[in-house]
Amino acid sequence: MNSKMRSKFSIYIHWPYCLSKCPYCDFNSHISKEKIDQNKYTTLIKKELDYYSDIMSEKSVLSVFFGGGTPSLMEPSVIYNILNHIAKRFNFENPIEITLEANPTSVESDKFRHYSDFGINRVSIGVQSLNDKALKNLGRNHTSKEAISAIETAHQYFKSISLDLIYCRPGQKKKEWEKELIQALALDTHHISLYQLTIEPDTMFEKLFRSGKLILPDEELSRELYLITELLCKNYSLFKYEISNFSKRGHESVHNLNYWNSGEWIGVGPGSHSRIENQDNQRISIVNEYDPQKWEHYMRKSGFSYIEKQELTQEHIRDEYILMSMRTSKGMDINKYINLGGYLDKEKIESLTIDGYIRMDKNTNYLQITSKGSIISDHIISELAL
Ligand SMILES: C[S@@+](CC[C@H](N)C(=O)[O-])C[C@H]1O[C@@H](n2cnc3c(N)ncnc32)[C@H](O)[C@@H]1O
Ligand code: SF4
Repeated sequence: MNSKMRSKFSIYIHWPYCLSKCPYCDFNSHISKEKIDQNKYTTLIKKELDYYSDIMSEKSVLSVFFGGGTPSLMEPSVIYNILNHIAKRFNFENPIEITLEANPTSVESDKFRHYSDFGINRVSIGVQSLNDKALKNLGRNHTSKEAISAIETAHQYFKSISLDLIYCRPGQKKKEWEKELIQALALDTHHISLYQLTIEPDTMFEKLFRSGKLILPDEELSRELYLITELLCKNYSLFKYEISNFSKRGHESVHNLNYWNSGEWIGVGPGSHSRIENQDNQRISIVNEYDPQKWEHYMRKSGFSYIEKQELTQEHIRDEYILMSMRTSKGMDINKYINLGGYLDKEKIESLTIDGYIRMDKNTNYLQITSKGSIISDHIISELAL
C-alpha cells in the first residue's frame, strides 16, 4: 500500500519505576527494592510490540512516547533497542515525534546526548517548581538549579523541549507564581505543561488533605492563577492549545493531540491502554495489567499482558470524544458529536454561553471552553454530556 494512504497511530511505552514516590502522584510508578533488570524489561517490551505489529501492519507510526514513572532512568541502550525494534516491526515515515519524559537530575541529563543520538527528538522535563522549598514540599529529589541546568543541557540536544510545572500549590500567592512562571518562561522551552495541583486518591497528599493539614487555594484564587498563567504564556508566544498545555507554533505535542483527537494508539508496558480500530472500523479498548510483576508474568506466559479488551459502544466513544476534544482550544466538532449520537441541550448551551464558560466558533462549528470555563472544565463537560 502507498505509505501516504496509511492511517496513523501512536506508540506509548510505559516505564513503571521511580527513585522515590512523590506524595501527590497516582501514576503507575513503583520503587523497586532490587536493581531493575533493564535487559529483561527490553525483551518483554519488544515482545509486546510484536503482539501489535501484525494488528497494525497496514498502518504507520505517527509518534512514540516513553512515559512513566521515570523513563529517563532507562539505560540509553534500552531506548536504542526499543526504537530499533519499532523501526523493524512497524511502518513509519521519518521524521516522527519521539518523546521521552525526564526528571531533571544531573544523572539523567548526562544521558541526553545518547538519547538524542538514538532518535529521541523531544524531551518533557518534570521541573514541577523553580522554588526549592516548594520542590521539597512536593517530595522532589532535585533542586531548581539542577532543573535549570537540565534544560540548558536539553537545549544542546533537542529541537523540542517541554517542561512541566505544578502550581496552585498550598499557600501559593499570585505574585510568587507570577515570578516563578516568568523564570520558567525565560528558559525558552518550546512547550510548557502547567498543571494545577490535584489531590489524587490513595496518595500521601490525599491523607494530608483529608486531615486538614494541606489546604489548597480556593476557586477564586485558582481562577486568578489560571488567568495569570494564560496571559504570561501568551506574552512569551506560547499559545494555549489544551487546558494545561501551551506551545510555540508548530511545537504542539503530536502524541498528546492524537489522544485528544480520538486517534489510534497502542500502549505497551504495565498499565498502558490502547485504542485501535479493527478491520470493521470498530474501536477497541485494551487495558494492560497494572502491576509490573504480574505484567511480566503475563508477558512471559502469553506474549501480551492485557486484562481487558472490549469493543467500545457508540456511547462510550461519544463520551470520550466530548471529554477529550473539549479540553483542546480547537474544541469539539458539533457535527461529529451529533453523528456519534450525541445530544446537546440548547438551554444549557445558551446559559453556559451567556455566563461566559463556553463559546461557539461559528466559522468551524466547534464548541469551545473559554478561559473562565477552563478552571471548571470537568464540571462543564459533565453538564454538556448529560
Ligand atoms: C507522568 S507524570 C511524571 C513525569 C516524571 N516522572 C516527573 O515526575 O517529572 C507527568 C506530569 O504530571 C504532573 N502531575 C502528576 N501528578 C499530579 C498532580 N497530582 N497534580 C498536578 N499535576 C500532576 C506533573 O507535572 C508531572 O510532571
Ligand atoms: S511524579 Fe514522576 S517521579 Fe514522582 S512518583 Fe510520579 S512518576 Fe515518579
